[in-house]
Amino acid sequence: MMWRFCAVLIFGVLVSVNGRLKRSIDLIAAHGLITQEKLPYDTMPSSYHLSLHPFPADGYFEGTVKINVTVQHKAHQIVLHVHPDLLILHCNVTQLMPPDDEIKRTNNSDAEPDYSPTPVNVESSRKVKSKPLFNIILQSPVKTGAVLEVFIRFTGRLFNDTSEGLFRSSYVDPLTKKTKWFAATHMRPNMARSVFPCYDEPVYRVPMVVSVARHKNMTSISNMPLESTTQHELREEWVWDTFQRTPPMPTFALGIIVSEFSYMTFNISDDDDVHLRVWARPDFITAVENVPEKVEKSLGVLEEFWGCPFPLPKLDILALPNYQSTRPADSWGVIIFKESELSARGSWHLTHELVYQWLGALASPFWWSDAHINHALVRYVTAYTTMKLKEMNETEPFNNWPMTMLYSIYYEFSKRYPHGKSTAIKQDSTSAKTELIFRMLNYTLGEKTFIHGMQRFMSDRQFKTFFGDDIWMSLTEQARFDEKLPQPITVNEIAASWITKDRLPVVTVTRNYKDNTASLSQRVYLRERPHDVPDQEKFLWWIPVVLIRQDTMHFGNTTPYTWMRKEREVQIENLPGKDSFIIVNPEEIGPFPVNYDPHNWGLLAKYLCSENRTKIPVTTRAKLLHDAWNLAYAGDLSFATALNMTLFLKHEREYLAWDPVFTLIDHIGRHIDSSSVHKKFQTYVRILLTPLYEELGNEPKEGESDGIAHLRSSSKVFLCQAGYKPCIEEAQEAFKKWMESPDPDEGNPVANQYICPVFKWGTLREWEFGLERVIKFPASRKPSERTYLLKTLAGCPNDANKIEKLLNITVLEQNGNFTDNDIYLIFSMLTGGANGYTSLFNFLRKNWDTIKIRFEEKPHLWNSLITSATTVFKTQEGLDLVSELYVERQTEFGTADFVIEKALRNIKEETKWSNDNLPVIEKWLDQYIIMNDKSV
Ligand SMILES: *[C@@H]1O[C@H](CO)[C@@H](O)[C@H](O)[C@H]1NC(C)=O
Ligand SMILES: *[C@@H]1O[C@H](CO)[C@@H](O)[C@H](O)[C@H]1NC(C)=O
Ligand SMILES: *[C@@H]1O[C@H](CO)[C@@H](O)[C@H](O)[C@H]1NC(C)=O
Ligand SMILES: *[C@@H]1O[C@H](CO)[C@@H](O)[C@H](O)[C@H]1NC(C)=O
Ligand SMILES: *[C@@H]1O[C@H](CO)[C@@H](O)[C@H](O)[C@H]1NC(C)=O
Ligand SMILES: *[C@@H]1O[C@H](CO)[C@@H](O)[C@H](O)[C@H]1NC(C)=O
Repeated sequence: MMWRFCAVLIFGVLVSVNGRLKRSIDLIAAHGLITQEKLPYDTMPSSYHLSLHPFPADGYFEGTVKINVTVQHKAHQIVLHVHPDLLILHCNVTQLMPPDDEIKRTNNSDAEPDYSPTPVNVESSRKVKSKPLFNIILQSPVKTGAVLEVFIRFTGRLFNDTSEGLFRSSYVDPLTKKTKWFAATHMRPNMARSVFPCYDEPVYRVPMVVSVARHKNMTSISNMPLESTTQHELREEWVWDTFQRTPPMPTFALGIIVSEFSYMTFNISDDDDVHLRVWARPDFITAVENVPEKVEKSLGVLEEFWGCPFPLPKLDILALPNYQSTRPADSWGVIIFKESELSARGSWHLTHELVYQWLGALASPFWWSDAHINHALVRYVTAYTTMKLKEMNETEPFNNWPMTMLYSIYYEFSKRYPHGKSTAIKQDSTSAKTELIFRMLNYTLGEKTFIHGMQRFMSDRQFKTFFGDDIWMSLTEQARFDEKLPQPITVNEIAASWITKDRLPVVTVTRNYKDNTASLSQRVYLRERPHDVPDQEKFLWWIPVVLIRQDTMHFGNTTPYTWMRKEREVQIENLPGKDSFIIVNPEEIGPFPVNYDPHNWGLLAKYLCSENRTKIPVTTRAKLLHDAWNLAYAGDLSFATALNMTLFLKHEREYLAWDPVFTLIDHIGRHIDSSSVHKKFQTYVRILLTPLYEELGNEPKEGESDGIAHLRSSSKVFLCQAGYKPCIEEAQEAFKKWMESPDPDEGNPVANQYICPVFKWGTLREWEFGLERVIKFPASRKPSERTYLLKTLAGCPNDANKIEKLLNITVLEQNGNFTDNDIYLIFSMLTGGANGYTSLFNFLRKNWDTIKIRFEEKPHLWNSLITSATTVFKTQEGLDLVSELYVERQTEFGTADFVIEKALRNIKEETKWSNDNLPVIEKWLDQYIIMNDKSV
């Protein structure tokens, strides 16, 4: 293999960060983590020798570290990261090599150079107040080029209740009934500083020598294989394990575990040269028996993808009891999972962490700000690997990558205000989008070019740090080499046009059937109304135009017909005649929806209803349906056209193709539920789903696929909501068991899926029984169960009386069993449907004065009430109601003044939508119902 040289371990190379440093300054400023203190660059580490002595049973650790440090500029002080919880006991500095100018001088003389270590006088050393830093101030400055050894002795506590830094936990040995303690590390993203003083920034990649003290009955694990074991100098029962020197690596990649776990051992990789051990507590080890086989398969795919073997001589994988962190703790060569995660079906989690062994450990992001692109690439490579594994073995669990993620970013980026104010959502959706850009590049450049580009990147950056741009650059070079990308186009430019904006484009295709041409135009995709986003005309993307035509149906060819090079509009020619459809952006190659002229939509709808349907792959069938109804929802397409795109579902049995229609039922259903059209819509839903559900049957069948199981449960949920009788009866039957149980407050025997249908369609008595359970909810049971009940009590009913009753009890009577948070929750649940918010509105209007007094001291509840009661109306009647209230109480809204004004604007917008669309929807539904009633 051409890039196999990737395997050559280049040990002990000091990173040349200076040049790359300057490039990253802008990037650094932009990101959150990481606005924190940056270490000065006048000294840099070149290696660590860490000796750690954890006492898991006693809850503390001791240690020493020797850091070899190179002086970059004349340095008065050495600044290290030290977490406030780490106690420094002693610190001294030795000069190992003199500065450059002294070396020159000694070289000029005939005498043997004498570089024997000399002590460096330390004036003072102390922690910096309220910063995670430790300053060692030298008596006199040390000049450039000198190599110093910083020696520090320290101690710290092992935390029980976190999974960060160096922590401990325990389990009970089932035979001896004794508590067994263990200690383990989780250093990401910047917790190494809580374990030992260090340069805790990803830019510094240096080798480490690790020694760990352990009791003789325990074992220790670290990044590298064990080199030697020696008797502890003071404690008879203890030994020191010293591990081989690591390749250069960032501090977050350090891993250490001491435990009494059992393990299985294997040799994997082509040449049996990677030593794998899988660890778990002794009575759990059988649950992870199949892990080695999974690791071997994933590693096989990954080694081929990167064109280089697993970078370390060994790998340890652990199932850790009581591990609390949401993410596995990956160190280089040591990966810690929750027990349930490691023993789970499928390989996604495992593969995901294995990818980090290359992307993160072998080559690591230069700074935390580059981590999001790394994260996106890791996820893409995980998906790639999972797909490959699936090709090899059909038993991988159902996974509809990338559709779930794709749909959610379609919704997020088409909002008026994407991701609200939440940086967490912003980071997630940005990372998801970047992942989809990798996918787009794979399709448009071709898989071979994409993979070779990645191999180029890895061979260039292995054992080093990288910037996001390095990835795009390698892809550009490879694409040029393979003649996939003409000069002067760069992948950087293409990627930047997608990654730098919090928006996605929509492409509109208008065919000219006279001369077989089409015009394609791009603009910002906006779904939520109003579409008055400023500066829209400035947004332009690099958009690949991949084209399928009915007369050839060549889905294998994913090379773009052309690129829209940040052009508003392009013309394409030589299209088929008016009897053949075209599809642009099949398989969701780029993350953007596509609209067509009505004739092309018509051809597509017709074809989808024909026997040939499956010649269009399922992802593309789903896309056509998903795009159509969302464009109609956005006001860009007639609902008659969009609803025609659901007709083929009569014959469709693949979950992926159905998935968009469940969202349609939810969104459109909620949008029209205040109008008379809603009943017809529910009939439509029943006609659509009943045959599907009856065919699938109520019970899972032996050996059926995950897709079928999903289809059954989703169709059931939506049928129930639409009032499907058998479902409601089944739910009431189940609920009856609870009502008849001698002590109903002991626990809830009813499956969650039944509760909402009962509260929605069931009797007042059933609903009141639920309410009573919330009121009498014992403190000993899980609060989340109570929350679920309360949510469904408020959110599900069709009957206004139920809601009024709930509001009377909680708001007017101020029943002490309900907290402000409960009330807040009730208000927000009531916005889910017209019955809810209309009842809330009527309640507010009727009891205005009383409520005003009740909420006098609680402006957040008042605001939340006004918001929930007024903002979500969607029709003229709603607008009239809210306007009347506004006139009546104009001066009394107080803190919620701004809410009501905004509400009126929104409702006007929604009313316009309803006036435009409801008649079209109604007419379509009327026809649909007539035709299908005849056929039944
Ligand atoms: C630090 O440098 C000295 C002198 O070059 C060397 O002997 C020692 O092994 C280095 N320490 C580590 C951990 O590499
Ligand atoms: C630093 O402290 C260690 C441990 O106390 C000691 O072995 C070493 O000689 C000291 N070095 C200097 C330069 O004082
Ligand atoms: C951890 O738990 C033990 C008892 O289980 C307690 O004595 C100790 O103080 C705890 N340590 C920390 C750091 O919370
Ligand atoms: C092993 O050593 C630890 C630490 O001293 C102790 O807590 C534990 O009980 C020992 N286990 C056995 C099986 O002796
Ligand atoms: C990459 O693109 C090829 C077509 O060039 C496609 O077959 C493959 O499924 C794509 N891989 C992923 C992970 O999307
Ligand atoms: C597929 O996976 C299952 C379960 O992990 C395993 O039993 C079976 O042997 C695998 N088949 C192949 C062909 O790898």
